[in-house]
Amino acid sequence: MTRKKINLGDIASLREQMLSTEGNKVIQKFSAMLHEKLGSKAKYVEVCQEAEANWEELTPDRLTKILALFSPYIGMQSPAHCGAHTYRDGFGALALLADPLVQHALFKADRDAGVIAAFLHDIGTGIVPRYMDGQLAAGHAQIGAWLVYQILRDVLEENMLLLVCYGTDKHMHHFEDVVDDDGQTTRFASPFSVFYHAGDEDKRKPIGLAVFLPRASDRLENLGWIHLLREILSRADAEENVPGGVIRYTGEKFFAAKGEFLTNMFDTIIRPEWKVQDHKKTPGTATEWVVLLFGAATLRKADYSEHDDEFVVLRHLIDGKLEQLKALKRIFDAEAPRLTSRPYATSLLKQLMRRVNGSAYMNVFGGAWGILLRVWNKLSDNDVAKWQQVLTQMSVDLDDEFAHMLKIAQTSDHPLSALAKEIYSLVN
Ligand SMILES: [Fe+2]
Ligand SMILES: [Fe+2]
Repeated sequence: MTRKKINLGDIASLREQMLSTEGNKVIQKFSAMLHEKLGSKAKYVEVCQEAEANWEELTPDRLTKILALFSPYIGMQSPAHCGAHTYRDGFGALALLADPLVQHALFKADRDAGVIAAFLHDIGTGIVPRYMDGQLAAGHAQIGAWLVYQILRDVLEENMLLLVCYGTDKHMHHFEDVVDDDGQTTRFASPFSVFYHAGDEDKRKPIGLAVFLPRASDRLENLGWIHLLREILSRADAEENVPGGVIRYTGEKFFAAKGEFLTNMFDTIIRPEWKVQDHKKTPGTATEWVVLLFGAATLRKADYSEHDDEFVVLRHLIDGKLEQLKALKRIFDAEAPRLTSRPYATSLLKQLMRRVNGSAYMNVFGGAWGILLRVWNKLSDNDVAKWQQVLTQMSVDLDDEFAHMLKIAQTSDHPLSALAKEIYSLVN
C-alpha cells in the first residue's frame, strides 16, 4: 500500500472528483484493494492478528480525538445522514459492546475497529449524499472508506486502519450484481458473516466485528421511527439538490403517494414471510423498496440479520424496534382524531426532524425543510391529525429507546462505557 499523502482540498472539489468517472475509479480501486486484503476469512484473520499486536483498547480520549478529525465532514453531511446519524450509530455500537458475544471477541482490534467504523461508516455522505449512490460505481460507503484512510493514515497503525476502512466500505452498500430467476440484474450488498474461533458454544469467540458492528448499529439506527423521518428528509433534500430528479421518487411525488406509502410500509414491515430477494416480485415505489429492505432486516430475513439471534443485546434492541413499528401500524389503522391545531402539528414535525437531523446540524437542513413544509402544508386535516399522533408517539418512543440504550451501554466493561453518557447527550 502506498502511503503517498493526498491533498484532500475543499469538500466541494472533492465531491466533483468523486462524481467524475476518473475520480470514482480511484475509489473503486481502493475498495478492490480492501477486498483483496481482507476478503477471505484467512486474510481477515491475518490482518486482525497484525492489528492486535499493536493495539491497546480504545479509550474515550482516543476515540474523541479520532472523531474530532472528521468534524468538517460530519458538519457537511447531507440531511438525514448528518451528525446525529453519526452519533446515534456510534451510540448503538456502545450498547452492543455490552453484548456477551461481542465481549468475547477474539481480537480487541477487530472489535474496536468496528466501533470506530460504526461512528464513521457514513462519513462519505459529507462528500456525496447517499441518494446519489445509484449513479455511482463506488458510493458513499466506499467513498467514506477512502476518506477514513486518508484522514487516519498517520493516526492508526496500517492493519487497524484497514479494518476500520473495510467495516466502513462493507457497512451496507457494497453492491454486487446478482441475476435473479427472471434474468434481471439487481445490485445487492454483499453478505459478510461473522465467524468463530474454534470452541464449544459458550466459549465461541467471534471474528468479523469490524464489519458486524457498523452494520448492526446502522440497522438499529435505521429501523423504525428514525428511518421513516430520515427517509422523508432525504427525499426532500434530493428534490432540492438533484433538480430533474435522478431519483425517481422525491419531494412532491413522494408525498403524493404518501397515503399508500404509509400503508404499504407498515403492511410489508410486519409481513414475516417477505424476503429482500423477492423485492422484484413486489411492485412498489423506490421508497417502499427501501422500507421493505429494512423491514425485512428487522424480521431476520436478510443477509444482514443472519446473526441476530446469536447477539442477545442486538436481538433485544431489534425486537424493541419491531414493537415500535407495530404500534405505528395500530395508529395508522385507527381512525384519525379531529385536527385541533395545524401549527402545533407542524411544530411537532419540525421538532422531530431537527432531532433526527441533529439540531447542531441545521445548516445542512435548511433547503430540505422548505420543500418538506411546502408539501406538508398541502396535506389534508385528516392526514395531519394522524401525523400528529404518530409524531407524538415517536417522540416518546425515542426518549425511552435512547435511555434504555444508555443503561445497556453503561453495563459494558469496555473503557468506552464511560463515554456513553456524553454520546447520549449528542443523540438526544
Ligand atoms: Fe450508509
Ligand atoms: Fe448509516
